[in-house]
This record gives sequence, structure tokens and C-alpha cells, in this order.
Amino acid sequence: MGQLKLSGSLQVDLEKLANVVNVALPALTLLFGFLGVRVSFNYHFLTVSFLLLTLVNLYYLYGQKKHTLLANFGIIAQLRYMIESVGPEFRQYLFMNDTEEKPFSRVERSEVYRKAKGIDSSSAFGSQLLFDDSEIKLRHSMYPLSKDRIRPYRLIFGEERGAPQPYTLNHPIIISAMSYGALGERAVRALARGARKAGIPMNTGEGGYPKYHLMEDCDLIFQMGTAKFGVRNSDATLNEGKLQEIAALPQVRMIEIKLSQGAKPGKGGLLPKEKITPEIAELRGVPMGQDVISPSFHAECTTPDATAAFIHRVQRLSGLPVGIKLCLGCPDEFRELVQAMKRLDSFPDYISIDGAEGGTGAAPKAFMDDMGVPIFAALPQVQKILVEEGARKRLKLMAAGKLVNPGRQFMAFSLGADAIYTARGFMMGIGCIQALQCNKNTCPVGITTHHPHLQHGLDVEEKSERVAAYVASLVHDHQELLASIGKTSIAELDSSNLYQEGAY
Ligand SMILES: Cc1cc2nc3c(=O)[nH]c(=O)nc-3n(C[C@H](O)[C@H](O)[C@H](O)COP(=O)(O)O)c2cc1C
Repeated sequence: MGQLKLSGSLQVDLEKLANVVNVALPALTLLFGFLGVRVSFNYHFLTVSFLLLTLVNLYYLYGQKKHTLLANFGIIAQLRYMIESVGPEFRQYLFMNDTEEKPFSRVERSEVYRKAKGIDSSSAFGSQLLFDDSEIKLRHSMYPLSKDRIRPYRLIFGEERGAPQPYTLNHPIIISAMSYGALGERAVRALARGARKAGIPMNTGEGGYPKYHLMEDCDLIFQMGTAKFGVRNSDATLNEGKLQEIAALPQVRMIEIKLSQGAKPGKGGLLPKEKITPEIAELRGVPMGQDVISPSFHAECTTPDATAAFIHRVQRLSGLPVGIKLCLGCPDEFRELVQAMKRLDSFPDYISIDGAEGGTGAAPKAFMDDMGVPIFAALPQVQKILVEEGARKRLKLMAAGKLVNPGRQFMAFSLGADAIYTARGFMMGIGCIQALQCNKNTCPVGITTHHPHLQHGLDVEEKSERVAAYVASLVHDHQELLASIGKTSIAELDSSNLYQEGAY
């Protein structure tokens, strides 16, 4: 910290500055004390202020041992902490260009914002993305189709095994799992109401009984995480009676068993204590005041055969289509699971692959950054294994992992996905500004917080319209893309529709 670099050649010597401040604070205290006595009592306001600053400075220099910077440089070192704390905002608004921000660049976010607001999302002059060999692109046809030849989308979950209550999806987009807990009440209700208007289902996330989702009467996919909130026995095994009660709710159309998640594969869910209200504690059956950490695997799923048997059991108990969600780790383990399904002659109704780039309300950084296979690498491997094992026609395949715009969604379709899950696409749809505070309960736009004053500005009705507009715009673009590629339905897409590095 000795030198604060302001630009190429301008540097501030902080050691000297700190020495000046260390002398100036007591000197100014004495000066204003003197003026307060001799000239006007009003000077004592400044005397008191500088006296306080002097005391704080002395405490930093000699009284505390936690922060080396403060002990070495005193109060001036606070400048660094202050600048550091507002750094992300400055970078986001002032310094980063339109393609730099992470995880979503401004270009990606504004496309979602414009779609959700129903504004024309075309752009001018040229793409801002890089065009180099590592890009994946869609291949258009020399003979595009007219749009009236595009067939309506329809996907029936459970049809392969003749499930008692199959579920039909009419658009290839689903709101991915986000629990009430990770999201606040208003965000859940805006998404659920928007899902109803858009005619798509919403995944409840692993938050237990879906109280707020049910209020909006949309189709639901009830998610059972490894802690089985809402359907658990005290030892985290399945409580069959509770599962049957939830499956009997008319809004609940499918059940999803979450085996793992892209942002933290091999680790259970995490809800920081800051976000646990008495209501959440009750809905999940957990204590207040401590982080809720789910087990890293289902108590029942200790081997491939046991996992296949558990999926079959949930299908039998619920009567609903049942899917599994996982992030690909070792392909051999995935193949063993599929082989176990074959031995049992029972397959889940869908497998949802969550790419390592997936989002989360909270996760350890090492897991978020360095664990799991990204979606465009995972999908071809999963598709290949399912085809080789003769299982592909027994189930549906879904994909997630930053698939928030139509182009990337089409890449996933071309690599084998039948439908797309997105969580952060819909968060942005209802106004997420990527403040990166989902784990702190301080979300400034009221989405991942339970503070009433932060949720105050999130208007459920207004945001639900945006959800519907986002879906309508995606569906519109899907049709345009299909026509240009020369295919009449998403089901016809395959890897020959992609240009990839090395695959000419
Ligand atoms: C705030 C937040 C909460 C989430 N909660 C869950 C959850 O409860 N269960 C789950 O399986 N995935 C959860 N996820 C992961 C998403 O469902 C999704 O799989 C992942 O973010 C990839 O999709 P995306 O890139 O479109 O966001 C959560 C993600 C976010 C951003």
C-alpha cells in the first residue's frame, strides 16, 4: 500500500501522507481548541470532530492488532478499504466495457432486459463479440424456410413409460430452481405469476413447501434437494406421506430430484443464516441463527443401483413425471448410473444437466470456480452416453448454464437438449442488476432478500409481465432462428447445425 497508483505516472506516497495525517489531526484539534476558547465557541464543533478522528487514528495505530494496514498507516488506510468496497460499482458503471463484466456482460444483460421490457433487441453496426476459432456458431442454411413452416413446440414428459399423469411443455423454456429462501417472497410471486402468464412451469427450488408459488397458481416442478426440505424425515430420508401430499397438489406437475448443481457440484445447498427468517425456518424445518447446509448427497443415493431405485420409488409414490438434476463430473460414473437404470428397466422422465457455469444463491468459491464440467462440454458427453446405452429415447434431456439468450439456447438444442432451464435469465428479467449480493440478504433490487424495505420497489404485477414478455421474445427468436437454419422444429436440430473449432 506504500504507493497508491492513480494513473500511469501519478503516484501518491501513502507513507508520507499517513505521517502528515498523523501529525495534522492532533495539531488541528489543538488549533480549533485554541480558536474555540479565544475566538468563538463554534470552533469547538471542529475541535470535537478532530479529537474523535485523532482518537480513532491512535486506536488504529496502537490499539488494534487485526489489520496490519491500519496499524502501519492509521486512519488514511481506511481510504483503501473504502475505495475497495465501492470498486465493483465503479468498475461496473464506469470502467468496464460492454463485453467485460462477469458472469454476464452488459451486452448479454441488456439483451435480456430489452426482451423483458418488450423493446426491440436488435443492435447496429456489428457484433461486439470476438470472432475467433474458439467461438461456437450456428450454421444457417442457403435455403431458409418461411416461418409458417415452423411447427409448434410440444414436449411430453412421462410419455415414454406411460406415466399416469404426463406433463406437456408448450414452450422450450422453464424457470430453473430457485428456492423461497434464496429469493424473497415478491420475487417468487413475480416469477410464478409470470410463469402462469407465459404458460411455462417454474421449478420451486429446494426450499420446502412452496407456499408463495402456490398463491400464483402456475405449473410447478417440485424440487427435492439432498436435505429434502418439505418431504423429509429427521434423518434426511424421504417421508413418503409428505411427498404424496405435495404431489397431490394440482399445481405440482413434476418432481425433480436434485443430485447436484453446477455452481457447487458434490456439495449440498447452502442458505446463509442472514437469510433465515422464522417463516423459512418453519417451512424448511430448520433452526434460526445458523447457516443451513444440506448434505452433499441423498441418504438413499449411495450407489448407481440405489440411485436408480430411488428415482423409481419417487415415480411410483408421486404418480408424476420425475426428473433428476446433476452437473456432470466423471462421465464413467454417469454411464454407470444409466446402466443401473437399464438393469432396473426404469429411467427418470428427464435428466437436467447443469453446467459448471451455473449460478447459485451461495456457494464456496472453489466449487463455483473450479468444479464440474461446463454445459457445452457436458451435453455432448451425456448425449453420447445416453445414445450408446440405448437410453436416449427413454427420457428427455434439459440443459442450463448461462443459456439466457436464443443463440446459446440453440447451441444447447443442437447438442442434444430438448428444453432449457434458466434461473438468472429470469432474475434479470425481473430486474436483477448483477449486484452479486445474493448471499448477503442485501439485494438492492429486492430479489434475493427478505428485507421488506428492499422488496418494496419490486412490483409483482409489473415484473410478472416482464417474465411473460421475455418468454414471448425468446420463442419469437427461436422461430426466426429455426427458419434461417432451415429446420421446422427444435427436435430436428443436431450438432451438424453448429460450427465449432476444429469441426469443419
Ligand atoms: C439465486 C439462485 C438460487 C438457486 N437455487 C437453487 C436451488 O434451490 N436448487 C437448485 O437445484 N439450483 C438452484 N440454483 C441454480 C439454478 O437453478 C440453475 O441451475 C443455474 O443457475 C444455471 O442456470 P442459469 O445459468 O440460467 O442461472 C439457484 C441459482 C440462483 C442464481
